[in-house]
Amino acid sequence: MSAANDEPSDPSPTSMPGASPREFVDGLHIREIGPDDLAAERVFIAGLSPTSLRARTLGGAGEPTDDQLRRLVTPTPPREMVLGAFLTPHAAAEVAVREALDAHAPDPLPSPDPARAALPASERIIGVARFAPGENDDDVCEFAVAVTDPAQRRGVGRSLLTALIPQAAAAGYRVIEGQCFADNQGMIALAKSLGFTVGTDPQDHTLFRLSRPLA
Ligand SMILES: CC(C)(COP(=O)(O)OP(=O)(O)OC[C@H]1O[C@@H](n2cnc3c(N)ncnc32)[C@H](O)[C@@H]1OP(=O)(O)O)[C@@H](O)C(=O)NCCC(=O)NCCS
Repeated sequence: MSAANDEPSDPSPTSMPGASPREFVDGLHIREIGPDDLAAERVFIAGLSPTSLRARTLGGAGEPTDDQLRRLVTPTPPREMVLGAFLTPHAAAEVAVREALDAHAPDPLPSPDPARAALPASERIIGVARFAPGENDDDVCEFAVAVTDPAQRRGVGRSLLTALIPQAAAAGYRVIEGQCFADNQGMIALAKSLGFTVGTDPQDHTLFRLSRPLA
C-alpha cells in the first residue's frame, strides 16, 4: 500500500523526506504493522515528544510496558488493524547511503534517539494509525493516530487516515470515532478535512469527539 492513491511509489532523488510535503508523502509506504514491528514501535513511541505522546494518549500514559507494546503491535483481525508509515525502499536506501557517507549529516527525520538511528531506515516508523472496537456499539470503531514529531504537518497523518478509513469500513464498522484534546488544532483540522464531525465530548469537556460515517 503506497501513501498516495495506491499508486506505486517511484520517488525521484529529490523526493526525499525534507523536500516539500507532497514529495515527502510520495516517499512513504503504508503497510500493516504486526508483531515483527515490536522493536520499531518501541523506538517510535520512545521518540515521540512529551507533547505528542500526551496528545496521543490523552494524557493517560507514560512509557508503555512490554506487554502494552506487544498489544499495540498485535491487532486481532478483522476488527482491529494497525497501519504504519515507513519510507519506501527507494527513499530508505537514499537515507542509508546518506548516513553511511556522512555519519554527521543531519537525519532527514532527525532524532536524538540513538535507538532510532540504529534501526535500518526502512524499518523506522514515521507514523501509526489504528482502529479497534468501540466500547458500547458493535458498529463503531475507535481510531488513534500519531506521527513522529519531525514528520508532522507533511501529510503523513492524512495519508494514514485516508488508508485506514476504508479498512475500517471493510471490517464491517458503520462509524469511525476518535477523541482528542479540545486544543489539538492539528487533529481537529485533519479530521474535519476528512469528513469527520467534531464536537465536545459530553462526558469530558476537555475532549473533542471526532466521528465519521463509513458509507
Ligand atoms: C495530529 C497528527 C496526527 C496530524 O498528523 P500530521 O501528519 O501532522 O498531519 P498532516 O500533515 O497530514 O495534516 C493534514 C492537515 O491537517 C491540518 N493540520 C495538521 N497539523 C496541523 C496543525 N498543527 N495546525 C493546524 N492544522 C493542522 C491541516 O489542515 C493539514 O493540511 P495542510 O498541511 O495541507 O494545511 C499529528 O500532528 C500528531 O501525531 N500529533 C500528536 C498525536 C496526536 O495528537 N494524535 C491525535 C489524537 S489520537
